[in-house]
Amino acid sequence: MFSHHLARRCPDMEVKRALAQIRYIEAQQQRVVNWLLPGVSSVLETTIAYEQVAVDLTAWVARMEPDPYLRQAYQFGVLEDFDHLYRYANLFEMIEHRKAESIVDGLDEVMPGRPTRLHHRDPVDNVREPYRREHTDPLSKLHALTIMSAEQQTMNFYMNTGPTYMEPIARQLYQEIALVEEEHVTHYESLVDPGESWWERLVNHEYNECYLYHSFMEQESDVRVKAIWELHLNMELEHLRVACDLMRAHDGRDPASILAPRLPAALTFEPNKAYLRELLATQIDLTTLGAGYVREAHERFVAMQENIHGGEAPPSDRVMAQHQEMFGRDYRVETEGEHPGPAKRTH
Ligand SMILES: [Fe+2]
Ligand SMILES: [Fe+2]
Ligand SMILES: [Fe+2]
Ligand SMILES: [Fe+2]
Repeated sequence: MFSHHLARRCPDMEVKRALAQIRYIEAQQQRVVNWLLPGVSSVLETTIAYEQVAVDLTAWVARMEPDPYLRQAYQFGVLEDFDHLYRYANLFEMIEHRKAESIVDGLDEVMPGRPTRLHHRDPVDNVREPYRREHTDPLSKLHALTIMSAEQQTMNFYMNTGPTYMEPIARQLYQEIALVEEEHVTHYESLVDPGESWWERLVNHEYNECYLYHSFMEQESDVRVKAIWELHLNMELEHLRVACDLMRAHDGRDPASILAPRLPAALTFEPNKAYLRELLATQIDLTTLGAGYVREAHERFVAMQENIHGGEAPPSDRVMAQHQEMFGRDYRVETEGEHPGPAKRTH
């Protein structure tokens, strides 16, 4: 998406051609990676996997993020995707009569986060302050691009798949959560310094791809899939070389002045249960006010809540009520004990 935006405002034919070539390779990578899905999963199973990835990726990034303001942005957001996972898992049991524990596979717990109803904020409160490109840790740039992109992909997925459902509650739940993902894209993209030049941003994107493929390659246990990550890393190294040349030519700056002196420690997927429980115990009642965070429901937040819900229960609450009616309980995976928030315990 970034490369397309750059190409659309780029008058230089040579650069446009170079971008088209790189984009064609990126497109092949996207097909290889997305087509690794074997096609046996339902849309809802893939959705649950999406929210699981959002939770584990964001939790890892929050744990590794050196800047306290940026860290807070990830800690805030992760409790919302954590709640989406819970709502979709309940929908899954309701309409497919299966349990999400087969998908999360013991790596994550499934229980209430910050209630989805409360994710609907006035849009102006979704805009955060950006990092400052000259001062921020290079790792912070990688984190912001990674989470921004993951949320963008998630929103697009829900926009495409939500309307393919026939069950009203499923259609509505996707619609509601896709709207929250739009808030998440706004929240995370605003962390990126808009003062970065287009060439600098191109270099950052390609460098981030190198970082991610390298991380996957390091952690991958399946030899066939590991070979894909290695191949893609090699492609990205060439993209990065081209991007650096473009930056030197068009910005007159050395990319070494903006890149990390060495690759940061590999990003890993690993259980974050204890970390998430701590956040659930301490940050569940936060909302945003301007570019900051508060605990109280301020005037603009209350007005937005009244406007959007109009005194009715949103789909994310109705899915729970319908589930409760069918099963006499909600669906949870609590492997480490009861919910850390007293109000969220089942008994
Ligand atoms: Fe790529
Ligand atoms: Fe989500
Ligand atoms: Fe999200
Ligand atoms: Fe690339």
